[in-house]
Amino acid sequence: MERTLVIIKPDAVERGLVGEIVGRLEAKGLRMLAAVLGQMPLEIAERHYEEHKGKPFFGELIEFITRSPSLVAVVEGPEGTHAVVRALMGATDPKKAAPGTIRGDLGTEMPDNLVHGSDSLQSAAREIALFFPDLP
Ligand code: RTP
Ligand code: MG
Repeated sequence: MERTLVIIKPDAVERGLVGEIVGRLEAKGLRMLAAVLGQMPLEIAERHYEEHKGKPFFGELIEFITRSPSLVAVVEGPEGTHAVVRALMGATDPKKAAPGTIRGDLGTEMPDNLVHGSDSLQSAAREIALFFPDLP
């Protein structure tokens, strides 16, 4: 089995799309293992997105991800689950994301792209440890 980190971002929680997005992950066959709903502290947001520090959109990204509650979840499934989640999410820019994906079906404007998924096994391990340090 494999674990990955999913964040249902503030725009999706604000729009009442938590059920829709969790439903798509569950319908695919993935399972929720742990989840916390709350406003992300600034310091945690900066650590989570540390790979983007210094990029022109970093400030806007941190403002977005901390603006209101998000649902941070550990999702479990078979080997390759992180890539399965990324495929369900669609391309980063919701304008360009393919229909049938979460971003392609539900979003229009950057940076409001509804969902985060770890981009590798290593990212998943780092991000899960950041948000769920006590998860067995
Ligand atoms: P995420 O990390 O949130 O799952 O998104 P991603 O891998 O598809 O995209 P990434 O390149 O990691 O970017 C992280 C988030 O930063 C915002 N962003 N804004 N204005 C811009 O050019 C820009 N580029 C990225 C998006 O919210 C993106 O999800
Ligand atoms: Mg990313």
